[in-house]
Amino acid sequence: MARPLTVLGIESSCDDTAAAVVRGHDVLASVVYGQTALHADFGGVVPEVAARAHAEKLDHCVEDALTAAGLHLADLDAIAVTAGPGLIGGVLSGVMCAKGLAAATGLPLIGVNHLAGHALTPRLTDQVAYPYLMLLVSGGHCQFLIVAGPDKYCRLGGTIDDAPGEAFDKTARILGLSQPGGPAVETAGTGGDPRAFDLPRPLLNQPGCDMSFSGLKTAMLRARDAVVTAKGGLTRQDQADLSASFQAAIADVLVEKTRRALAIYLAMKPAHPCFAIAGGVAANQVIRARLMQLCAGLDTDFAAPPLALCTDNAAMIAYAGAELLALGQRDDLTLSARPRWPLDKTAAPMLGSGKKGAKA
Ligand code: KG4
Ligand code: ZN
Repeated sequence: MARPLTVLGIESSCDDTAAAVVRGHDVLASVVYGQTALHADFGGVVPEVAARAHAEKLDHCVEDALTAAGLHLADLDAIAVTAGPGLIGGVLSGVMCAKGLAAATGLPLIGVNHLAGHALTPRLTDQVAYPYLMLLVSGGHCQFLIVAGPDKYCRLGGTIDDAPGEAFDKTARILGLSQPGGPAVETAGTGGDPRAFDLPRPLLNQPGCDMSFSGLKTAMLRARDAVVTAKGGLTRQDQADLSASFQAAIADVLVEKTRRALAIYLAMKPAHPCFAIAGGVAANQVIRARLMQLCAGLDTDFAAPPLALCTDNAAMIAYAGAELLALGQRDDLTLSARPRWPLDKTAAPMLGSGKKGAKA
C-alpha cells in the first residue's frame, strides 16, 4: 500500500488563521488563531483588518502546527492552501505564505477550494464513500452538494441570500444575546415554546432545494418589536420563546430542503447512502437531531464531523490537498487567489455576498 501523504494545510479565507498537518486520515496538528476580538466592535468581519492579522500570524501558525506535529518542513510531501473563495486579502496572505514555503522547499503546491475542504471533511473523519450528499451550513455558506470525487461536485441548491449562521447571529443581536449568536440562541431557546411565534418558512412552498433566510431576520425584528411595544421590554421567557421559534423555522426549512435533496441523491442509487453536514450551524443539537431522524427514516447514514473540523480549519485543506495530489493535481507559483470559486462550474451562480465574503 502507498505511504500516506503528509500535507501542510493553510487556511486564511475569512476570520480564522489556521495551519495543520495531516497524514492520511490522521490530523497530526491543527492550529486555529481566531480573530473574533479584532472584529467585535464592527458587527462583522472587516476585510482589511482580517488580512493584516492573517499576514502577521500565518508564519507563526505554520510553525506552531509543525511543532505540534513534531515535524519539520523536510518531512512534508506537499503544501496545500485555500486559494478561494473568500475575502481576497486574507486568501492572498495564505497563498503568498504557501508559495514562499513551496519555493523555498521545492515541495508541490496545491491550491484548494475552501468549500471543497468542508465538503471532503467527512472523508477525513469518517472515510465516507463517494458519492455522498453534503449540507454545508455555516455563517458564510449554505448549500447542498453531491460529492462524487475530490473535484466532482453537483450543487443541488443553496441560499439565495443570507446563510443561516448570519441569521442566528442577527437574531442574537436583536434579542440582546451574546455573539456568536448560534450557541446563544440555542441555549436561550432551550426553555422556550417553538410555536409561540408564527415565523415564515421562506421558499418552502416553491420547488427545488434553494433557500432564503433574510426574510426570517426581518420577521424576527418585527416579532421582537411587537413584544417590546406590548410589554415595554423582553422577559427571559420572551427571549426563550423567540429563540425557540426562530430555531424551529430554520430547522423546518433545512429538514424539508434536505428531504428534497436526498430524494435527488437517493435516485442515483448510491451503494452506501450517506448524508453529511458541516459548518458551524451543524453544531445545533435541534437541527442535528431532526436531520438525523430524517436520515434514519430513509436508511441513509448520517455523518457529522466533530465541531472543530466542521468550522473553519486547515486540516480540511490539507486533507483535500492530499486527495487532489493523489489525482495528480498540483499548482505552480502562478497560483492566484480567487474571491469567487464555485465548486460546481455548471450550476447557476450563487447570488449575494455576506459579511464573511462571497457565497461561492
Ligand atoms: O463554520 P463557521 O465557524 O464559520 C463560517 O461561517 O465559515 O460558522 C460560524 C457560524 C456562526 O454564524 C455561528 O453563530 C453559527 O455558525 N453557529 C451556530 C451554532 N454554533 C455556531 N448556529 C446555530 N447553533 C449553534 N449551536
Ligand atoms: Zn468555511
